[in-house]
Amino acid sequence: MVDLTVDYLGMTLRSPLVASASPATADVDGLRRLEDAGCAAVVLPSLFEEEIEHYALEVDRILMTGADSHTEAHSYFPDLYEYYTGPERYLDLVERAKRAVSIPVIPSLNGVTTGWWTEFARHLQDAGADAIELNEYVVAADPNLSSASVEERYLDLVREVEATVDIPFAVKIGPFFSSFGNMAGQLVAAGADGLVLFNRFFQPDIDLDTLSVEPHLTLSDSEDLRLPLRWIALLRRRIEASLAASSGIHTVEDVLKALLAGADVTMMASALLRHGADHIQGVERALVGWLEDHGYTSVRLLQGSVCADAAADPSAYERANYLQTLRSYSSDRI
Ligand SMILES: Cc1cc2nc3c(=O)[nH]c(=O)nc-3n(C[C@H](O)[C@H](O)[C@H](O)COP(=O)(O)O)c2cc1C
Repeated sequence: MVDLTVDYLGMTLRSPLVASASPATADVDGLRRLEDAGCAAVVLPSLFEEEIEHYALEVDRILMTGADSHTEAHSYFPDLYEYYTGPERYLDLVERAKRAVSIPVIPSLNGVTTGWWTEFARHLQDAGADAIELNEYVVAADPNLSSASVEERYLDLVREVEATVDIPFAVKIGPFFSSFGNMAGQLVAAGADGLVLFNRFFQPDIDLDTLSVEPHLTLSDSEDLRLPLRWIALLRRRIEASLAASSGIHTVEDVLKALLAGADVTMMASALLRHGADHIQGVERALVGWLEDHGYTSVRLLQGSVCADAAADPSAYERANYLQTLRSYSSDRI
């Protein structure tokens, strides 16, 4: 009997197969299907900073309309925070999810600035969240912003969430930093218990008929795993944090590669949207088969065994790999 259990954010999960934030985790029926298929934990779709602030502004507007006609009424208004409706639906989803499934439920907050909205993290904790995923999705479009100030913004937000909740939280980020390894270490030093690598940036497209900029969502394929694979391998044993592989996890081979590189868990979104929740079951069966065939009694024995600090050729994860890749092309084709 192969032991599939892994540790992630201080929790012991039944396997490394986790559903990441997507429409597949957006309702309780979907969550039940995922649990039935063997999913080890679920990350809910994000609640956005903008949604929280929008509702607060709306509530503020309604309350202030009342306040104009009854000047003394001001002092009777309860905390603005109590009036949310949109974010309340999100809290309701967390509570219903907790009642519906017994696997860990990880709500996701998505934002870029510090501010009172991060108080919402505590409400998620109170609603029963087992952990939180903080998605910092920043497109640093302003050429006047230095990398250092953008990075400081990331770190401030992590510090704020760290000060707000007692449950563990992971930070989900993109790879676009000059010194990603250093940034990863700083995020952990600021309080992140784990890193989810990586956010998938959906790049806009231009519609040639309307000449407008269009959002362009494509699902991933296994090729997209290469970037997380490299960085997980480089960070494993170098930072003290849980590592989740997100982007390009579709098949058992993808799962195995991410685990060998050093991932604690592997997260799927596109694969579940394409094939449905039962896909998890097939991947788990294949994972057990592969581990048995290769003489592994547990996932833990495999994890990180090909990370940069354990690989026979650690430079394969660095610049040397670039040279080899270019050379392998010419010798193949000429
Ligand atoms: C339709 C769709 C909706 C998503 N919504 C969210 C979201 O709300 N929050 C989030 O952090 N990631 C979201 N993601 C990103 C996924 O969680 C995941 O990180 C990304 O798709 C890469 O994983 P994959 O290769 O398994 O798709 C979404 C992805 C898709 C395809």
